[in-house]
This record gives sequence, C-alpha cells and structure tokens, in this order.
Amino acid sequence: MTLNSTTVTAPPQGLRAKLTSYGDDEFSLFLRKAFIKGAGYSDDALDRPIIGIIDTSSGFNPCHGNIPALIKAVERGVQLSGALPVPFPTISLHESFAYPTSMYLRNLMSIDTEEMVKAQPMDAVIGGCDKTVPAQLMGGISANIPCISLVTGPMLTGSHAGKRVGACTDCRSYWKDYRAGLIDMEEIWRVNDELVPTVGTCGVMGTASTMACVVEALGLMPLGSATAPAVSSARLRIAESTGKIAVDLAKTQLKPQDILTRASFENAVVVLQALGGSTNAVVHLLAIAGRLPGVNLTLEDFDRIGKKTPFLVDLKPSGAEYMEDLHKAGGVPTLLRKLSPLLDLTAKTVTGRTLGAELDSYPASFPQRIIRDLNNPLFPAGSIAVLRGNLAPSGCVFKQSASAPHLRKHSGPAVVFTSARDLANRIDSDDLIVTPDSVLVLQNIGPIGHPGMPEAGLIPIPKKLAREGVKDMLRISDGRMSGTAEGAVVLHVAPEAAVGGPLALVQNGDIIGVDAEQRKIWLDVSDEELAARKEQREKTTVKRKVQRGYAGLYEKTVLQADKGVDFDWLTATGSFSAHTN
Ligand code: FES
Ligand code: MG
Repeated sequence: MTLNSTTVTAPPQGLRAKLTSYGDDEFSLFLRKAFIKGAGYSDDALDRPIIGIIDTSSGFNPCHGNIPALIKAVERGVQLSGALPVPFPTISLHESFAYPTSMYLRNLMSIDTEEMVKAQPMDAVIGGCDKTVPAQLMGGISANIPCISLVTGPMLTGSHAGKRVGACTDCRSYWKDYRAGLIDMEEIWRVNDELVPTVGTCGVMGTASTMACVVEALGLMPLGSATAPAVSSARLRIAESTGKIAVDLAKTQLKPQDILTRASFENAVVVLQALGGSTNAVVHLLAIAGRLPGVNLTLEDFDRIGKKTPFLVDLKPSGAEYMEDLHKAGGVPTLLRKLSPLLDLTAKTVTGRTLGAELDSYPASFPQRIIRDLNNPLFPAGSIAVLRGNLAPSGCVFKQSASAPHLRKHSGPAVVFTSARDLANRIDSDDLIVTPDSVLVLQNIGPIGHPGMPEAGLIPIPKKLAREGVKDMLRISDGRMSGTAEGAVVLHVAPEAAVGGPLALVQNGDIIGVDAEQRKIWLDVSDEELAARKEQREKTTVKRKVQRGYAGLYEKTVLQADKGVDFDWLTATGSFSAHTN
C-alpha cells in the first residue's frame, strides 16, 4: 500500500488465484511456489490469503516519502490477521515532477494499477499525492477486486518569521507578494525552506487532502483515516488497521462495485462542497464514477448538491487553517456528523457496515472551531458552482468560496492569451492593455490543448496591477487550478478551445460576464458573429498532427472535462470506438 489508497483482494485462493498460464493449474502453482521460494518464503507463509500492497514510493515523490514506514505497518496488520502481505510497485506521480502534467498520467497510472492488480495473485493497495488516489481508485474499481485505500497523510506546517506556513497556498501567497515587490529575493528563498517541512501531501485543503476526505466519505477508507499527518504515529496505526481490514475483505470478497452506489457519490459531493474542496475533485469524481456501471454522476449533480450544502471547514485556501488542525478537530467523522441531515447514511463502506453504523460507533465529537455547524457556515452554499452559457455550453466550474466577493458577479472586456507560453511572454509586459475590471482569458490549456489540463488556470495578476495592490481579477480558462489556490477563477470550460469550443473564438475587448448566483457565464457576441469567427477559424487553423505512443492514444480518446478526462474506452460503458476531434 502506499500513499493514498489501498486495495486488497482475492485471498482465500492465495497463490492459486488467477492460475492459467500453462493450462495445468497444479504445474502453474508448482512453478509459482518454486520461484517465490527464491525470496525465502515457506509453504506455511504461502498457503494463506495474499494481500497485495501497492507501493507508490519514488525518489521523485516526497508526498509519498513515508510509504516505506506505512508498508511496514500495513504488513504488520495483515500478518496479525493471519494473511501474507506482498508489496509491489506501480507508477508514482508527484504533482511537481510530472511533465506536462500529472493529470496527463493519471489515466496511465490507473491502467497500471488495474492491470497489475488483475495480473498478480492478490489484492492490492495504494498511495497519496494529488492524482494518485483517483488513479488508484479508478484502477481498483475497474479491476473490481476487494480494495481499501490508505493515504500517506498531510505534511505538518512550517514556520516563517513567526507565522505558520504550508504548501501550497502559502507558496502562492508569498510568490504573489514577491511579484508585487512586497518581499525580496532573500526572503522568498528563506520561506522556501519552510513550506514543505515534512514528507506527506500538501497541508491545506488541496486536491490530495480533498480526495482523501472524499474517499473516506465514499466509504473506501475507514472512518478517521483521511487527516492524520504523514509523520504521526496515528498514521502508522491507521496503516496497521487498514492491513487488518484488507484481510477481512479478502475473506468476504466485498468488492468496490458492491460498495459504491449513486448514494456514495452524492455523499462524497456533499463532503466536497462542505470542505470548500479542490475543483480537481470534480474531474476526479466524474472519472471515478464513470468506472461504475449505472452511477451516472454529472456536473449538474455537483451544482444541485452544492446549492443545499454550506461550506463548513475553515481550511486554506477558502478558509484560514491547516490539515493538522482539521485532524485535531476530529477530522472527517466530525464533519460527517454535522452534515448528516444531507447524507445517505445507509451507504455501504469497506467494513461491510453502513456509513451510519460506522459513525455511531466512532468516538464522540467535541467542541472545536475548525468545522462549523450547518447553521453557522463560512459560506452559505455552493462552494463550487457549475456555470453554463454560450461560452461554456457543456459547463465550467467556479470556486466562488475562494473568490473576492465583488467578482462573483462581474463583466468586463476580455484580455486573451492563446496559450500558456503566450501568457508567460506577455502577462507582465508594461504594454499589456489591462485594468482591474478586465477578464483574463487563457485558451488552449484543456485536456487536449495542453495535455492533462495544467494547473495554469490561476492566471497571475499582471505585475503592473499587482504593484498597485490588485489582489483578484476574474479569470477564465479550459484548464485546471491547484486545489491549494484561491481567486475568482473559472475553470474546466467545456468544450475546450483546442477542439473548437467557443472559448477559442473570444477576442480582445469582447465583453464576458459571470453571475455565480444565477450560474451563468456569457460572451457578449452575437451568434452570427460567433458563427463567422468559427468558419474563419476552421479555414485558418492547421489540423493538429496526432502523435505516436501514449500521447497519441491520449489525444484520440480522452474525454472532455465535464466527463472526467478519462479515456473513453476505460469507462464502464466505453469501448474502443475512439472519437476524433
Ligand atoms: Fe503532492 Fe500537493 S504536491 S499533494
Ligand atoms: Mg495539486
């Protein structure tokens, strides 16, 4: 098991599971045993349920830096329950070390996970940075062997000049101050030492933390296991008990497709909205649900559920505190109790019991100030709103809880950048015609335009405005934003510019408007003018050359943001029909 999740499985069969290779099962087992005995195992060890533990540690992944210790603890739990733990590797993804984006590789990791879990005689497990949890869940669900998630847990906070700091909301706020000339180069490098003071995932409500809490709400991790810090003894005890539950799962053969229902996903969306969680979780939950026949989660579900769900958890970037504070406040179980009128407590969990039964037997909650009551929220409802209109016919998302209030309803002239490179070249130019009322538009960073939708949707405030003290502006793109970021940022515009979505047709000076309360986004250009621009664009745009290898497979079969950016042929209903764009 590694960082963020875990899967287990096929056990009562142990080494006999999935024997076929030689057309003679007894000979196949004889060979398997002969080889694995080369690693020093006895027959007594081998004639037991086998619990696979997915090891996603990597020298390039400090978010998974505690995995060796976690694996030891999981192995202890498995052995205490009389089964044999067998760790094995898969791809590991770290957000900052995955070019062009970790999202581009999420589906690849899900394939690696699914196929290795299916191929080897066992039950699997998993790991934590940002995209790894969804990748593992997607693979585990599609393989449909009993599985359980274990996350690596959040890093602790650091300290700079008497202030607590943590990745990566504070990485961004200090960088913003540096760009605005408020702090100097020496200070920015001093704080660099403190932003990630321990191993583990980002210490705020970023994507990794959001996904950890959401997976707990989905019922695929035991209650109380999302928030314990990566370097705590609690995290190791969670790993040990995860190993024990894995052995139970191996015996009962309770599979993810037996556990997860539409109700599980609706609960997960309630929790996402109450957390003021990462917009990336919208894409991931759509992709995870897409692996299950019949769940049919849509963007509209996020908005409908959001409208009745207040934002309760006071963590950065929408709030003020850090993951270690959420853990000390009682973590997800406390939140679930407060949200219980909005949840379906009959949803099943990985223990075989319902969410309600698990909550009833969990230690009592206590007064604290991080998780608010339903009647005293930080933001009334719809932390993540889904907007629609002629600029985003298939929808887009807006994390209004992290936006400056005056920009939740705003219109202004567009300042258009055609790519991430164009943005980098011009955003700080003194010649850029821009005012605080302008709407910054970034095209071509969607699923295909810049493979994997880079987290470049948080377009920086142009330097000349930043120096004047402008802190937030309305920004719109077909890309993503880190869960640790804040601002008036509209994301995941679908269809994306690279496949000819209306975003591609926006020109400098066009008036763009957003009204979050009405869930509207519009481009104030007539249909006739847009049709003419589209015709012109089709005439002048050189057709993309689809590449070889994984890049080509990705481009030919990836779905748009409103469908979760999975490959069409990996979804529950998918086949290799390969749409062309
Ligand atoms: Fe790994 Fe943020 S970079 S969780
Ligand atoms: Mg991230």
